[in-house]
Amino acid sequence: MKRISIVATMFIAALFLFTQCSDEKKTDTDDIKPVAQYGGFDSQVKWGERLVTVGGCNDCHTPKKMGAHGPENDMTLMLSGHPTASPPPDFDAKEAAKKGLIVTQTFTAWTGPWGTTYAANLTSDSTGIGAWTEAQFIKCLKEKKWMGLDNTRPLMPPMSMMPVTEMHDDELKAIFAYLKTTKAVKNVIPEAALLPPPGQ
Ligand code: HEC
Repeated sequence: MKRISIVATMFIAALFLFTQCSDEKKTDTDDIKPVAQYGGFDSQVKWGERLVTVGGCNDCHTPKKMGAHGPENDMTLMLSGHPTASPPPDFDAKEAAKKGLIVTQTFTAWTGPWGTTYAANLTSDSTGIGAWTEAQFIKCLKEKKWMGLDNTRPLMPPMSMMPVTEMHDDELKAIFAYLKTTKAVKNVIPEAALLPPPGQ
């Protein structure tokens, strides 16, 4: 009888160890994130940073300063959009539209047949995307809606034509995660001066 209970105890102990062991294994693999999840980068934020760099967001959303190659991105104001203090473009949008597309030296204000639009503040500040939700960001770019809200105006050129509007949700989530980590720059951009669509 004693022998049976020793065997039973050993069996229970072995069973316990086995379950512990397999539990441990499960936790280990759970902790390992498949690299492909972040496009081959270490984290979602790093992936987002890369997409912002190659996606050209700085070209229009970062104000410029003069450098050896002409206007260069002023990275102290990274992604903060058209500077509040900059005067509005000094030309008539309707007249400009007849001649082509006009952009300011900072690349942050664009005029064409749609009127004048100003590159938005994309920093983590509350005047940027600081208070936005991820769902809002995705809606803004995929459905081309200003601020990513229902009942807002459509997103206009050149933003409405940018390839980022074709990105996968996971890519947009990574960009948003990165933008949330950017240095907050307070800058309220001017309201777009839109012209009625042609024929109206
Ligand atoms: C060619 C210039 C240009 C490039 C490149 C560009 N943007 Fe824009 N972006 C603009 C302009 C101009 C607006 C304002 C459009 C409007 O008023 O409808 C804008 C608006 C936006 C908005 C909407 C902000 C709001 O309040 O609704 C988001 C979000 C945005 N851009 C994200 C990006 C991201 C992310 C990238 C890079 C992947 C990028 N943009 C690249 C010019 C550009």
